[in-house]
Amino acid sequence: MTNVLQARDLTRHYEVSQGFLKGHATVKALNGVSFDLQAGRTLAVVGESGCGKSTLARQLTLIEPPTSGSLLLDGNDVSQASAAERKAMRTKVQMVFQNPYASLNPRQKIGSQLSEPLVINTRLSAAERVERVREMMKLVGLRPEHYYRYPHMFSGGQRQRIAIARAMMLNPKIVVADEPTSALDVSIQAQVLNLFMDLQESFNTTYVFISHNLAVVEHVANDVMVMYLGRVVEIGDKDTIYSRPLHPYTQALLSATPSIHPEDRRIQIKIQGELPSPLKPPSGCAFHKRCPFAIERCRQESPELRSLDRRQVACHRAEEINA
Ligand SMILES: Nc1ncnc2c1ncn2[C@@H]1O[C@H](COP(=O)(O)OP(=O)(O)O)[C@@H](O)[C@H]1O
Ligand code: SF4
Ligand SMILES: [Mg+2]
Repeated sequence: MTNVLQARDLTRHYEVSQGFLKGHATVKALNGVSFDLQAGRTLAVVGESGCGKSTLARQLTLIEPPTSGSLLLDGNDVSQASAAERKAMRTKVQMVFQNPYASLNPRQKIGSQLSEPLVINTRLSAAERVERVREMMKLVGLRPEHYYRYPHMFSGGQRQRIAIARAMMLNPKIVVADEPTSALDVSIQAQVLNLFMDLQESFNTTYVFISHNLAVVEHVANDVMVMYLGRVVEIGDKDTIYSRPLHPYTQALLSATPSIHPEDRRIQIKIQGELPSPLKPPSGCAFHKRCPFAIERCRQESPELRSLDRRQVACHRAEEINA
């Protein structure tokens, strides 16, 4: 298996003002995330709102540099790359956002928006660009006459098809999709998920598919990475994790997702309380205030991600809880 991307201890902090008297504080949005992305596969990133998923997406797509840690694309360290190399790297990793309307220019015809990446990054002639755009429009299920229409003339599902087409125009290695179906009607979501899967089959694109909904992810993912307060708590093959989650947080997320075979799971737990503020994360295991299995050690010592039963998990008590 080829690794198209490697993240090592990726960290992103934000300085925020707490008002005139309190001064500044640091939000640890991403707090040391490491994983490998294998070519042609789909890694789903899941976790509650605020756990750092979109921050991770901005790091992976080079929209924003990390505070520390490293990112390797095809084995090349992004932070060591020259400006020209980084520009080339950027075209290899494309993003699809949750709200397609916000990412499209309302005053520009769809055909010309889709050909923009070709104008900037290729030497294709105008006629060749039109042809390429028309091919891609067809692949994502848009009609030829849509070429001359503006974004407001499309439904939400069609707009997301346009955004996906634009992300695919330069045949990227990796597409990072940040909650790409969350804003769509349930009836449309499955169509858009199927489109992602068809395109992956045609182009062998690698996906990072972000969602807070584990039922959505079940259809598309090969691997699953569960995040909590800027850290990875469990990562591995989807079937392994969905059939026997070892981390109490993963167990709670899956218990709360009714459509996913609950009969397979022995442990049903409910998450207590609210997600703590990343401005003041709890000591030790960040999950300890909500975990029914927390002991004194959990309050003091942060658990490292370690290999156990065909996946990696960050919990001191994973063996005992799941014995
Ligand atoms: N530009 C920013 N400035 C300050 N805080 C931010 C910024 N972006 C994200 N955050 C904070 O970082 C945390 C993670 O946010 P985000 O990555 O958007 O999570 P998710 O996508 O999982 O909902 C949140 O507490 C959020 O408020
Ligand atoms: S380390 Fe402790 S608090 Fe954290 S998930 Fe495991 S048992 Fe719960
Ligand atoms: Mg988000």
